[in-house]
Amino acid sequence: MEKVKLLVATTNKGKLKEIVRILAPLGFEVVKPPHKLEVEETGETFLENAYLKAKAYYEEFGLPSLADDSGLVIEALGGYPGVYSSRFYSLEIGGRESPEPTESEANIRKVLRLMEGEENRRAKFVAFVVLYWEDKGLMAQGECEGEILKEKRGEKGFGYDPIFKPSGMDRSMAELEPEEKDKLSHRGRALRRLASLIEPLSSRLP
Ligand code: IMP
Repeated sequence: MEKVKLLVATTNKGKLKEIVRILAPLGFEVVKPPHKLEVEETGETFLENAYLKAKAYYEEFGLPSLADDSGLVIEALGGYPGVYSSRFYSLEIGGRESPEPTESEANIRKVLRLMEGEENRRAKFVAFVVLYWEDKGLMAQGECEGEILKEKRGEKGFGYDPIFKPSGMDRSMAELEPEEKDKLSHRGRALRRLASLIEPLSSRLP
């Protein structure tokens, strides 16, 4: 496959690192945005938000743009934090947490608090990825099922990784090596699917 150049429509460091790590070995040239773009995530679904971000980055920078919208879906919380994963701590629903020492820590604190005494720990990570260029779009989705731990474990990864244990593993997502996470993660699955959709179209990309 000819090397396809993609702009990653995110400035989330955790996501950026993983997207580059997953796509570079598949033959993509992954470019980071020259500056951050504020895109209001007004969609009610991961897919809508991924589409909004990919389109906004394409319109600003003129390169085929790849956006990831993802989050943690917890059964006992009726699907929350879901599309609100990155700012769950600040939502009125479930009670606010102050973003100390980081927003990620506050999000984790809130989930652990809401899940205290809850026996149903089932949850999944979901990722929707969209590639947008000209007036065209491709999308793919990936999921990773697992459960919410009662306390944090591990230092790797980002976001909710320390409190999520993928099904069939005896370690949290934050205890997995990066390659182990990529193999089973929602993002790894979605991006590999997207890559297989891009391949036959690669000669038609700018
Ligand atoms: P987005 O930028 O609106 O897509 O926010 C995604 C949020 O979901 C992140 O800020 C994290 O809190 C969470 N998230 C998504 N993917 C992962 C992951 O792979 N590990 C841990 N948390 C994740």
